[in-house]
Amino acid sequence: MGRIAVYPGSFDPVTNGHCDVVRRGLRLFDKVVVAIARNGTKTPLFTIEERLEMLQETFKEMPGVLVDSFDGLLVDYVVRRQADAILRGLRAVSDFEYEFQMALMNRKLNKNVQTVFLMTGLRWIYISSSIIKEAAQFGGDTRGMVPDIVCKKLKQKFGTSQE
Ligand code: PNS
Repeated sequence: MGRIAVYPGSFDPVTNGHCDVVRRGLRLFDKVVVAIARNGTKTPLFTIEERLEMLQETFKEMPGVLVDSFDGLLVDYVVRRQADAILRGLRAVSDFEYEFQMALMNRKLNKNVQTVFLMTGLRWIYISSSIIKEAAQFGGDTRGMVPDIVCKKLKQKFGTSQE
């Protein structure tokens, strides 16, 4: 079956930073399952279905990537998927505290589930889903920061010119 990593997140929306982490993950794992948490704490801009569609389009030419969503605890999903690890990307120091807390909590919930962190490429260090949404909301051009399908969907959502 090979080694499997679950890359969980809100992906609201997926950014080029996320894509970079997936590509790096595929150098270590045979399969990367990009999984949207259905019960996220944040109020999303895009519905689960919209986010799944954007992820599917983004990774359609990458056979090692599977797109999915899950309910409940991440560690339980990792076990159901028979995955070997959770994959998370790190940008700057500011991500560390939250990621550290989450990784230790997940380990406490299931001591067999490991978290692997990969550094995003430097060119994506300032990109986050939140900052993309903020820029797009006020008509900012997000091309080159998110996949083309996301640019299109942001434009539809906000009715602004992204082209
Ligand atoms: O992209 P995000 O919003 O930083 O991702 C956070 C996510 C979805 C990975 C996290 O909230 C999560 O794992 N949610 C599932 C519920 C769960 O297992 N929570 C306990 C882990 S601390």
